[in-house]
Amino acid sequence: MQKNILVIYYSQTGQLEDIVKNVAKPFENNEQYKVTYYNIQLKKDFPFPWSGDVFFNTFPESYLQIPSDIYPPSDEVLNTKFDLILFGYQVWYLTPSIPVISFLKSGFAENILKDTPIVTISGTRNMWMLSQEKLKVYLKRMNAKLVGNIALVDRHDNYTSVLTILKWLTTGKKEASGMLPAAGVSDEEINGAGKYGEIIKRYLDKGDFANLQPDLVKNGAVEIRPFLVRMEKVGNKIFTIWSKLIINKKEKRPLLIKFFKVYLMTAIWVVSPIVLVFHLLLTPILWFKRKKQREYLQGINLK
Ligand SMILES: Cc1cc2nc3c(=O)[nH]c(=O)nc-3n(C[C@H](O)[C@H](O)[C@H](O)COP(=O)(O)O)c2cc1C
Repeated sequence: MQKNILVIYYSQTGQLEDIVKNVAKPFENNEQYKVTYYNIQLKKDFPFPWSGDVFFNTFPESYLQIPSDIYPPSDEVLNTKFDLILFGYQVWYLTPSIPVISFLKSGFAENILKDTPIVTISGTRNMWMLSQEKLKVYLKRMNAKLVGNIALVDRHDNYTSVLTILKWLTTGKKEASGMLPAAGVSDEEINGAGKYGEIIKRYLDKGDFANLQPDLVKNGAVEIRPFLVRMEKVGNKIFTIWSKLIINKKEKRPLLIKFFKVYLMTAIWVVSPIVLVFHLLLTPILWFKRKKQREYLQGINLK
């Protein structure tokens, strides 16, 4: 019997769209499968390229997971029982992006996701790990079955990727220029994402996803850098304070956003090297703890 695959995504630059479509490719042009795409659409969309002001002004609502209105999915999406969902999502401020949160909180999501195997797919700068934990909570609450996760990232060092992504998101220019390499996930990984689709197809055909995630991990779908996990933990603590402050002090919002921007840049360029030194010094003591943490974050379970 034909299997129904739903591909859910939101993408501004087209990078995530390319990734999810490449993952879905092995299911296309094959009468055993029917692939349906659902592009999440906000009633009031975000601009791309971003102006610097809007980019930072989006922080409090992003981090606090405050949804916006979306257009309803098509009747086909709402009325089909899918055998597998490929769920492409972006990370904004260490959290699933506003469009994705808006879908998850829309009232449409539960019916679509419940009791259905889901593979989450992200294409981020490199800090997606705790955002995936937040997404796991939503999926669990809706009785969706998370069976796999593919997290493609910019593999350059943390500083290079900050410079290139800011340029890309605010000018639309992804390509290499001067001393800087191209921004985002490498073309090689984007174009090669079909290999993950082939792996997922094998498990879907077997009707058993039990070993899918270890197989995806073995093939490079998820890399965990412990230093970035540490940075995310620190970042979440600080973002909690900033986001609440900005939301609660409405009349001072423009000023506070300016301070937040300065703070964020200082944290990335000044605080993160300090965190890195402590991180390296603690390596012998925390070796096993970090190994366990890596195994957990590469997986699909929720603590
Ligand atoms: C407002 C905003 C905040 C972002 N925050 C993060 C982040 O915390 N961690 C991260 O790894 N990437 C972050 N990114 C990068 C996105 O996850 C994504 O890689 C990029 O926007 C391209 O996505 P697209 O191809 O779906 O448009 C952010 C992007 C935007 C626009």
